[in-house]
Amino acid sequence: MAKNWALITGASEGLGREFADIAAADGYDLILVARQAGKLQALADTLREKHGVAIEVLPTDLNDPAAAEALWRKAASRRKVDVLVNNAGLGYNGPFTGADIAREMSSVMVNVTALTILMKRAVEHMRNQGGGRILNVGSVAGFMPGANMAVYHATKAYVLSLSEAVAEELRGTDVSVTVLCPGATATNFAKDAKMEDIGLFKFQSIPAARGVAQSGWQAMKAGKRIRVTGLLNNMFAFGPRLGPRALTTRITALFLK
Ligand SMILES: NC(=O)c1ccc[n+]([C@@H]2O[C@H](COP(=O)([O-])OP(=O)(O)OC[C@H]3O[C@@H](n4cnc5c(N)ncnc54)[C@H](OP(=O)(O)O)[C@@H]3O)[C@@H](O)[C@H]2O)c1
Repeated sequence: MAKNWALITGASEGLGREFADIAAADGYDLILVARQAGKLQALADTLREKHGVAIEVLPTDLNDPAAAEALWRKAASRRKVDVLVNNAGLGYNGPFTGADIAREMSSVMVNVTALTILMKRAVEHMRNQGGGRILNVGSVAGFMPGANMAVYHATKAYVLSLSEAVAEELRGTDVSVTVLCPGATATNFAKDAKMEDIGLFKFQSIPAARGVAQSGWQAMKAGKRIRVTGLLNNMFAFGPRLGPRALTTRITALFLK
């Protein structure tokens, strides 16, 4: 019988490591992707020992669209990939004017371009192979413009919109698309995005990555379209529908300072 493989991007840190552990516990063999090969290898050794699953490590820089295409070819040419977790992502906190353009373009490349390439290839592959599930990691940031984090919020609005639209196109098929929209979560993300000291991360209790990943995995397995984690984030996601967008944008700017 063909094995069930799950391809997880951004598996070297944070939410991605948790998705890898959860998927292996669920019986999936794994393809782990990120740039830090040493961390991926160490995680693979731990999870092989813990869960007895097969794991392949494919270090890839998703900042390069050609690398994303090559990754998919390498991963899926010989196997049936049943699950794609499009989790790799990064952001940058600071005003748009003056922000490092290389960093911002990398957010667009990884959060938008690579995610789209992998999702497109996965949908084609899964339709041909008799089904599959895709979990895109968006953010509650996708529900509102984010002054002081403009590019990141825009990338996550794209992920939310793309995921919902393709999920609708796939209605009634054996392929599902789920978008996970977490809020601030305890991972390396905030440090990497230079936002550890802003209000959003300082003045609320930040959930651990495990529960957030678990919630996303469950939503994906149930074929749900959107999962927003936590009460406060659900309020953040719903709130913008009630008032003028300019007000939402003003309030978001205060949280992101
Ligand atoms: N933590 C939060 O507060 C939060 C909230 C909402 C949404 N999210 C989303 O959750 C997802 C996971 O983030 P996290 O919180 O787990 O952050 P994290 O701890 O910083 O992990 C980010 C992962 O993305 C990978 N990555 C970054 N750039 C990459 C590149 N060029 N090529 C390949 N992989 C790359 C990193 O691996 P390497 O460095 O090894 O390449 C790492 O494994 C992201 O999409 C993020 O936007 C996070």
